Amino acid sequence: MSDPIIHMENIKKHFGNVIALNGVTFDVRAGECHCLLGDNGAGKSTFIKTMSGVHKPTSGEIFFEGRPLSFDSPREAMEAGIATVFQDLAMIPLMSVTRNFFMGREPRKGGFIKRFDLDTANSVTMEEMRRMGINLRAPDQAVGTLSGGERQTVAIARAVYFGAKVLILDEPTSALGVRQTSNVLATIDRVRNQGVGVVFISHNVRHAMAVGDRFTVLNRGQTLGTAVRGEIDAGALQDLMAGGQELAELEGSLGGTV
Ligand SMILES: Nc1ncnc2c1ncn2[C@@H]1O[C@H](COP(=O)(O)OP(=O)(O)O)[C@@H](O)[C@H]1O
Ligand SMILES: [Mg+2]
Repeated sequence: MSDPIIHMENIKKHFGNVIALNGVTFDVRAGECHCLLGDNGAGKSTFIKTMSGVHKPTSGEIFFEGRPLSFDSPREAMEAGIATVFQDLAMIPLMSVTRNFFMGREPRKGGFIKRFDLDTANSVTMEEMRRMGINLRAPDQAVGTLSGGERQTVAIARAVYFGAKVLILDEPTSALGVRQTSNVLATIDRVRNQGVGVVFISHNVRHAMAVGDRFTVLNRGQTLGTAVRGEIDAGALQDLMAGGQELAELEGSLGGTV
């Protein structure tokens, strides 16, 4: 197995009195999908914000390609090759797919339309989306007219096109129906096979089991260990996520129906 691209060791993060992360260890390697599972409030978003330069950890160490590193901003993390697709996707619905695809990558002055060549931008966008299994009607189609799953795919495709080594996806399937979910899971599979290290955050065990190579469960800001595909089943993951004991208690009080 290859060395981790990024390795986070015993990360703690406090917001005043709130302890959001209380010792999280996690790494991701090229060509794998490492799922970070946890219930609402477990600390998943806080953790990936720490991984992507949005938050500074209160304590703990980050190693990038084997060397200790601390990102001072999301841009620094992005330049190192850590791309994050947040839950809000950072897209402008009324703008075209192409515009959204190249957003933030345009030359600072003069606008990219003339300088960059819109035709090239359009054909890159069409081609990259096609590679992800989506045939756009037209590249000037507004992003807002795409389905939720397709918008996720735009966000993933642009991150990969611009050289992501690590792609972090924060609950990409949580608001999607079954078909769109399976499209996004297929996209994750494609990206992983291209050698990108994918961090897939979810509170849905079935979604994680469908694509994950490794699974780490976060519970109240702490990691409960990492399991490899084939070593753990959905029931055990679910149990860990909910905090096994509590789930057992709940089952008892509801007469074993949970
Ligand atoms: N900026 C913040 N200030 C204070 N508390 C926060 C902040 N961000 C997250 N938290 C707290 O940290 C905990 C973990 O939140 P979060 O990382 O969003 O969990 P998840 O993404 O797993 O649902 C929660 O108790 C949340 O209220
Ligand atoms: Mg979250």
